[in-house]
Amino acid sequence: MSQLDLVVIGSGPAGYVAAIRAAQLGMKVAIVEKYPTLGGTCLNVGCIPSKALLDSSEKYEMAHHDFAAHGITVGKVDMDVKKMVKRKESVIHQLTSGIDFLMKKNKITRVQGWATIGGPNTVVVDGKDKLETKNILIAAGSDVIELPFAKFDGDVIVSSTEALAFEKTPKNMVVIGAGVIGLELGSVWSRLGAQVTLVDIAERPLAIMDKELGWEAKRTFDKQGINFELGAKVVDVKTTKTGGTVTIETADGSTKKLKGDKVLVAVGRKANTAGLDLEKVGVKTDERGVIQIDENYCTNVPSIFAVGDCVPGPMLAHKGEEEGVACIEKIAGIHAHVNYECIPSVVYTSPEVSSVGKTEEELTEAGIEYNVGRFRYMGNGRAIAMNETNGFVKILACKKTDKLLGMHIIGSMASEMIAEAVSVMEFGGSAEDIARSVHAHPTLSEITKEAALDVDNRAIHS
Ligand code: FAD
Ligand code: NAI
Repeated sequence: MSQLDLVVIGSGPAGYVAAIRAAQLGMKVAIVEKYPTLGGTCLNVGCIPSKALLDSSEKYEMAHHDFAAHGITVGKVDMDVKKMVKRKESVIHQLTSGIDFLMKKNKITRVQGWATIGGPNTVVVDGKDKLETKNILIAAGSDVIELPFAKFDGDVIVSSTEALAFEKTPKNMVVIGAGVIGLELGSVWSRLGAQVTLVDIAERPLAIMDKELGWEAKRTFDKQGINFELGAKVVDVKTTKTGGTVTIETADGSTKKLKGDKVLVAVGRKANTAGLDLEKVGVKTDERGVIQIDENYCTNVPSIFAVGDCVPGPMLAHKGEEEGVACIEKIAGIHAHVNYECIPSVVYTSPEVSSVGKTEEELTEAGIEYNVGRFRYMGNGRAIAMNETNGFVKILACKKTDKLLGMHIIGSMASEMIAEAVSVMEFGGSAEDIARSVHAHPTLSEITKEAALDVDNRAIHS
């Protein structure tokens, strides 16, 4: 192969999007991926499969509990977990095949195998084939974190990957970690009939999000029958062939044993940079393997760049995609920028939870004076018509300038509604800008408008 302009290591959302942008800009590109399917964690064992199961299980839950309120009577509602998992596989297949198509369309050379860095301009595949290139982009993503006293066995002690493919609903499932994965996959299996207990060392679920969201989420999931052990420390996990016993020290200092036929460990993810031979060329990482980059996504080696989950910042697909594009455009000499203040995050539970910008706690800690506006779904016509009245929108705006500093939502369609705040924040807009904008009636987006009005104590429908 003649000299390439760019070799991308990893075909997740950060890597494959960067490869496409580079090809669009006329670069000669190859992408190396160890798996036969492209798309990385996101498409194969992350965002997409989890959302497929969340959607299937939510439909089952609605048929069971929500249709009656709409006057719809259904016969005996049953489920076929194997079929749900098979549908999830076909969604993955459809989307990963789509990435194959995009690689071909953009004339990007696909190489399957394990990539290592052979030199500042060399990528070695499976220890033998050499790719010579002007630049290397590392988009190696992240991997699950294992607890030393709860090693994954693929059967009882599992990671999110196995929890996306159970063949039947567990009777009891203990989840270590009440973060995003804990709540999303805990919701899936709870809806399908498992008794789910989430254990976390933090005092509330979704501990890094705005406090009010975490507590509202806790109240809502309590009502859905999910158990929480918060402020609790896991001290031991023992397994037999049929299940595990998780020993915890609870918040009041006592010891408790939780039994589960499945124990899902969801305590975060780590940069997937071991085995890349970074030390060969001296690419700097921190002590957790996170690659250190400058504002151009460049490592300390001028021809080697890195984006996505393996560099600092939130581990989110859209963050990786934006970094991939910005990195390539900067290499091509085009002005590019990612606004890290405006990266939304969404938890796809029911109700959904979404957030962008600063939390109230962060503003207080930074000594920034702010006004708060809130509006509950209960006061919105569309929400009542949909029978989706749980939750609220909360807006944080600068006390002096009214500039929008953050928006936090728990409620139906929160994943879609957060986009309005992202746009307003990108344009440096204010709560008043949202309050003065016409929002179609009847829509859930009117809740956002009312919350913006409430920043100035003039919500109409509260
Ligand atoms: P990855 O997607 O991890 O891709 C990296 C790729 O590099 C992998 O395919 C890997 O095989 C390959 N690779 C690594 N090293 C090498 C090597 N040496 N040689 C060859 N190939 C290599 N984020 C969201 O924004 N929304 C969600 O709803 C969401 N849901 C999630 C649900 C779950 C269960 C999980 C686990 C994650 C979820 N995430 C979600 C996070 C999201 O998946 C990641 O942030 C995203 O995939 C990161 O993209 P990436 O391209 O940096 O890395
Ligand atoms: P997380 O960081 O969201 O949650 C981990 C939780 O585990 C925290 O609440 C933490 O307090 C707790 N914890 C850590 N160590 C513990 C211990 N020893 N005992 C008990 N609790 C412990 O991480 P999670 O859920 O594993 O997700 C990993 C990544 O994947 C996140 O960065 C997230 O952004 C991404 N993701 C995103 C999704 C989305 O955007 N919808 C969905 C799923 C994952």
